[in-house]
Amino acid sequence: MTAPTPPAITKGQRARAKSQWPCCVWFTGLSGAGKSTLAQHLDCALFARGRHTAVLDGDRLRQGLCRDLGFLPSERAENVRRVSEAARLMVDAGLIVIVALISPFRAERDRARSLFSPGEFIEVFVDAPLTVCEARDVKGLYARARTGQIANFTGISQPYEAPLAPQLHLQTDDASPEQLVARIMAHLDERANPD
Ligand SMILES: Nc1ncnc2c1ncn2[C@@H]1O[C@H](COP(=O)(O)OP(=O)(O)O)[C@@H](O)[C@H]1O
Ligand SMILES: [Mg+2]
Repeated sequence: MTAPTPPAITKGQRARAKSQWPCCVWFTGLSGAGKSTLAQHLDCALFARGRHTAVLDGDRLRQGLCRDLGFLPSERAENVRRVSEAARLMVDAGLIVIVALISPFRAERDRARSLFSPGEFIEVFVDAPLTVCEARDVKGLYARARTGQIANFTGISQPYEAPLAPQLHLQTDDASPEQLVARIMAHLDERANPD
């Protein structure tokens, strides 16, 4: 097999052309914690600043790229692998990529991080107590998981391994999405202008 041809245009050149620092903002957390909501708010905030973004949302991906996968730990691992590889391609293309994915297992998130250059993978723990997520029950899934109609449900019949050292830890039960997105934007600004 011959070695792949290196890209003619580097990531740095693309980043400069877009006047932005490509990265992957990875939201992890329980179902109903607020990942999709924050992803949309962050996308809007970045778009308003003229940034070029892409949102990879777990629910949407499971309708297409990952529609052959279920929720067994091995399938969740494959789900995270595909999404992280897609995110990496998009970061290489110069985008700020926002991933909203339960991604319950630490090992898989660490593998995702390992695809990126240092500092490029920003792990954001979107945190709300299980009781709050269950009370929100945005999609009615917790009720079905409690009655056994859905198996392998994160937080109920499968574990969620909280990040040990996320870049950001956001509690969604006592701050508005706007307040939390302001914190993410501040983090991204700090990263882009370290002095
Ligand atoms: N600070 C907050 N951040 C995000 N979502 C919040 C917040 N406060 C309340 N919510 C509500 O919580 C729910 C989160 O749902 P969703 O974003 O679909 O969660 P997930 O994508 O993590 O499953 C939404 O109904 C949203 O309006
Ligand atoms: Mg969601």
